[in-house]
Amino acid sequence: MKAISIRTFGSPDGLAVVDLPVPAPAAGQVLIATEAVGVGGVDTVIRSGALAAHGFKEGHIPGGEVAGTVTAVGDGVDVSWIGRRVWGFTGTGGGYVEQAVAPVEQILPLPDRLSAAAAVTLGSAGAVAHFGLAHGHFAPGETVLVRGAAGSIGIMAVQLAARGGAAAVAVTTSSSERGERLRRLGATHVLDRSGDGGEAAPTGYDVIIDVVAGEDMSSFFDRLNPNGRMVAVGAVAGQPPADFGTKIMAAFQKSMSFAAFSAATVSPADLSAVRSKQFGAAGRGEIEAVVHELLPLDEAVSAHRKMDAGEVFGRIVLTP
Ligand SMILES: NC(=O)c1ccc[n+]([C@@H]2O[C@H](COP(=O)([O-])OP(=O)(O)OC[C@H]3O[C@@H](n4cnc5c(N)ncnc54)[C@H](OP(=O)(O)O)[C@@H]3O)[C@@H](O)[C@H]2O)c1
Repeated sequence: MKAISIRTFGSPDGLAVVDLPVPAPAAGQVLIATEAVGVGGVDTVIRSGALAAHGFKEGHIPGGEVAGTVTAVGDGVDVSWIGRRVWGFTGTGGGYVEQAVAPVEQILPLPDRLSAAAAVTLGSAGAVAHFGLAHGHFAPGETVLVRGAAGSIGIMAVQLAARGGAAAVAVTTSSSERGERLRRLGATHVLDRSGDGGEAAPTGYDVIIDVVAGEDMSSFFDRLNPNGRMVAVGAVAGQPPADFGTKIMAAFQKSMSFAAFSAATVSPADLSAVRSKQFGAAGRGEIEAVVHELLPLDEAVSAHRKMDAGEVFGRIVLTP
């Protein structure tokens, strides 16, 4: 089968199309003939070599989110899965392939009306947005800021906050065109990357969902309301500055909270329950999966170039 491997760490040109044997699903796993494979931000970070110290090696197959049809099951897995269309999570790799293996507890049936591309756009990002908002104790009537809203997590956080009755949903983004698209998805205020939205923008936020982190992260403490909560769900701009902790203490009198959130701390059953609801909602058109572009699997290099260039609004999906 065709697969994409990281031949050499560094630029997208280090990705290569390779021919691999079709894997056999082990006990507790299923084999999925992939129709759609999501290109995640973490795939590009792994490809760059930045996570080499964390055990990722050249030869790694990137990708973790796939959708397609189950063609075989391992020991202990109900054979009635065979022939069903599913979304599946393969882990931190193993997704950029024509036939992927996933643990049975990490697969979910697709509703008839949901495309495979929509499923790999929503599956991981929607759950992070949902549980990130819950981690920030978001309640109806509160003001929310989504920092880094143009990616798949941010787009879902905007929609869920708006549908959840937020009094205002502000977003940071780098262009007015993206701002308009985010308004159509539920944003009420568009800010630049520094958080400046002019006089019309809310003066403070109860919840900030932060996909970005990086050097400017602590400047957003100033934009929290008293008792406000900032939840870091990603780090597309890298680590926060060294004086980050000092800045939290400087905001002491606001009784603010800072938290990190990773979906890895949520049980597979709870993740599946939320994904299932979101897949249903997307199938009914209540929430939108924003697919930036469909590209053939062997154009993964081009997908990673676009990711590196910051050109992607939503998610690129590879189609094996
Ligand atoms: N918490 C979890 O469980 C979990 C699970 C999966 C992934 N993640 C993490 O989530 C992140 C990827 O999320 P995503 O795919 O939604 O994001 P993304 O598409 O990679 O980026 C989101 C947006 O952030 C803005 N941005 C990029 N660089 C920036 C910078 N230097 N300063 C300010 N804004 C910047 C860009 O929008 P504009 O150009 O419009 O500003 C970009 O579209 C990764 O850090 C990944 O590790 C977390």
